[in-house]
Amino acid sequence: MVPLGSRDLLGLPVEFTRIASKDELEPAGRLSVVIDDYPALLIRDGDNFYAIEDVCSHDGQPLTVGPIENCEITCPRHGARFDIKTGNALCMPAIEGIQTFEIEIRDGEIFARASD
Ligand code: FES
Repeated sequence: MVPLGSRDLLGLPVEFTRIASKDELEPAGRLSVVIDDYPALLIRDGDNFYAIEDVCSHDGQPLTVGPIENCEITCPRHGARFDIKTGNALCMPAIEGIQTFEIEIRDGEIFARASD
């Protein structure tokens, strides 16, 4: 999938979309959401929230149930790991990263948009 970036084809900023309420996630919880038509995974790490594309760049496996440790998620299929802050691929067999999303929290509501 082609990364969207935070600007559309005309160079205009892409708006943030409400995706969840903070109360929907436990401190180490996760939630499947859709952001800008991407299947995405919203992850809570304490008071921090991250959103990543929920598709492994190696062979398309959803990362939904992949173990998360030290801000890294492991693909349950072949074991590729991704940094949940940057989307960077950290080990084989993945050689490409995954899309990440900017998060904004307003009055307990979580909003997201594609990162550059
Ligand atoms: S599909 Fe994720 S590592 Fe192969």
